[in-house]
Amino acid sequence: MTIHSDSLTSIERNRRPYDDVMATIGWTPLIRLNKITRGIRTRVYGKAEFFNPGGSVKDRIGMPIIERAEREGRLKPGGTIVEGTSGNTGVGLAIAAAIKGYRCIFTMPDKMSQEKVRLLKAFGADVIITPTAVPPDHPDNYVMMAKRIAEETPNAILANQFYNEANPEAHYATTGPEIWEQTEGRITHFVSSAGTGGTTTGAGRYLKEKNPKLQVVVGDPVGSILAELWRSKGQTKPEGVPYKVEGVGQDKLPGTLDLSVIDEYQTVSDRDSFAMARRLTREEGLFVGGSSGLIVHVALNVARRIDDPNAVIVALLCDTGERYLSKLYSDEWMRENQMMEPDKLTLQSLLARKDGDTPSVVSIASGATVRQALRLMTLHDVSQLPVMDGDSCVGSVSDWSLSARSLENTKLLDATISDIMDAPFPVVESTQSVDAIAKLLSKANPAVLVRSGGRLAGIVTRSDVLQVMMAR
Ligand SMILES: Cc1ncc(COP(=O)(O)O)c(C=O)c1O
Repeated sequence: MTIHSDSLTSIERNRRPYDDVMATIGWTPLIRLNKITRGIRTRVYGKAEFFNPGGSVKDRIGMPIIERAEREGRLKPGGTIVEGTSGNTGVGLAIAAAIKGYRCIFTMPDKMSQEKVRLLKAFGADVIITPTAVPPDHPDNYVMMAKRIAEETPNAILANQFYNEANPEAHYATTGPEIWEQTEGRITHFVSSAGTGGTTTGAGRYLKEKNPKLQVVVGDPVGSILAELWRSKGQTKPEGVPYKVEGVGQDKLPGTLDLSVIDEYQTVSDRDSFAMARRLTREEGLFVGGSSGLIVHVALNVARRIDDPNAVIVALLCDTGERYLSKLYSDEWMRENQMMEPDKLTLQSLLARKDGDTPSVVSIASGATVRQALRLMTLHDVSQLPVMDGDSCVGSVSDWSLSARSLENTKLLDATISDIMDAPFPVVESTQSVDAIAKLLSKANPAVLVRSGGRLAGIVTRSDVLQVMMAR
């Protein structure tokens, strides 16, 4: 069973000029995920919402919210649109406001990326940043602050995406029907994540009306309360904790989320969400944000579990990765936030970085004297030496121990190394990571010898490893 890959609508798209940018919103492509689904028989498609002119699924709700307020007589020419937004709704509203000639004021929690703040300002909006770590009913909460500004500004409306029925209705009227048509009615699972819940409720409701057996599966970030509320059917009062994925999850149940539309909720960590977003970009060429990663992580769980070549899973790809270049697409940011393992620097690469003037291993023979060993260490400016017998390390000497003992008893300067040497340095393979050998370096072991292809390739000391760690 195949879904025709070039439906009439997509062929017709963009063949004629549009009256304005609003007409280009929606009818986003449905794109099969091929690489990340390797080994899984279930087909998984991504609904690429980043093709919208403002780069996200939220473009769909801007105009419907504004037009509803106009119809109800709440918004008049020259008016202002106020909203608490994680960014994308702001862009959707700003595009529609630009066409209609309204002013925009947006409040935004401070965890949101700088790119999003700059983006909204680029559309001419005023942006007010609020603290993320405040309870939902605190006056500094971004939604509470937006409410206050809307009340205090003449001829202003609060877009109120969390309670405005125009939000789910927009997805009922567009996102749902598009997916139904694009899959020729074969979709079996719709996977999304809820911020306001507008997409899940609207598209999910439409698709379930078309096929009551269709499963709506929703991903929720660890720290959000929505999945727990759904599981307990509203019987518990979970407390949210901060998390890093933007735009989805909540610390309060939004009025626009109908939990009864949902058949399954899965909780996903920031780490898994970001890792999958990066894979979508690198392996599928789909440059998406963290919430898309979260949703596709869930979609793959479902795809693996049902393992059904007749099933069709559609995962929402909510927004563009450009909004997160300084976050999940920055290796530094990922490491700082413990979302990625530290750089795996191997001993081989560490040795390659070392000063070229010093021989790769400065060593001394077991028959040499202490005097010779001390001279050798001064000459090459090293603090320890392996004692070598041919290719084998039979012992070691260190600057501080030899100097201290020779000062106590100067006769020791002419002693033979093999009589006074310490234990040999451990020998490790050059493919090992610097982090892995750090624990071998102790008071008794100031260095390790590095072997490559069966031969001695160099020496790595405590101070070499410390320098790597300090540079992180
Ligand atoms: C990046 C991103 N993904 C997903 C969503 C969730 O969409 P909805 O509010 O329709 O639940 C949002 C909403 O703000 C978002 O910004």
